[in-house]
Amino acid sequence: MLITFEGIDGAGKSTQIKKLASHLRHKGREVLTLREPGGTEVAEKIRQILLESRSDITPVGELLLFSASRAELVAEVVRPALEQGQTVILDRFFDSTTAYQGYGRGLDIEMLRTVISISTGALSPDITFYLDILPEESLIRKFSEKSLPLAFESEELDRMERSGLEFYRKVREGYRKLIEAEPERFVRINARLKVQEIHQEIVRSLRERFDEGS
Ligand SMILES: Nc1ncnc2c1ncn2[C@@H]1O[C@H](COP(=O)(O)OP(=O)(O)OP(=O)(O)O)[C@@H](O)[C@H]1O
Ligand SMILES: [Mg+2]
Repeated sequence: MLITFEGIDGAGKSTQIKKLASHLRHKGREVLTLREPGGTEVAEKIRQILLESRSDITPVGELLLFSASRAELVAEVVRPALEQGQTVILDRFFDSTTAYQGYGRGLDIEMLRTVISISTGALSPDITFYLDILPEESLIRKFSEKSLPLAFESEELDRMERSGLEFYRKVREGYRKLIEAEPERFVRINARLKVQEIHQEIVRSLRERFDEGS
């Protein structure tokens, strides 16, 4: 089973993935958690280019780098694990591409669909948890985590985080449209709830849909 987590930076994805993985392992499931971009040696190198690069990357360049990283991860790690019956939890997957490079950066959504299908071999999650939060709030979390003043030009932020509030508003609106288009795959959760409350909602959804995690 493939579970993905989506949401803008600082929404709480990593926090919840850790809790869910440990919950499922306690229940006896074999769980593999991976983050995008990254997860293989080559894909981690691409991650460094995408997040740590101080120079500009064009939107198309960004799309193809993310897609190259994803192709490696899917073929080398995700598919083999799923075939062995493991539960795979991904911290971001192709919805991030549509939300960030499509709605955020303005690339054509139909073109993205084609690129996504090539890089994933049409693999789709069984369920996607979307942690919903206003960019103002999630970025405050990120800044306070790094003990930084609220300034998007800060050198301490990664390349995405320096994109600014308007960008993140477009990304969030993109996620809203994705959920509208595929309500059966997505579970939208209010990311302002307490960590434990969100975790309980996630476990409850899995139980309802798949009898999993109960
Ligand atoms: N429900 C919550 N309420 C308040 N703070 C939270 C909550 N969940 C996570 N946080 C805090 O918000 C910050 C961001 O959380 P986390 O790293 O899990 O987000 P993320 O979605 O993985 O971010 P990124 O996309 O940058 O990886 C952390 O400092 C975390 O402790
Ligand atoms: Mg994270």
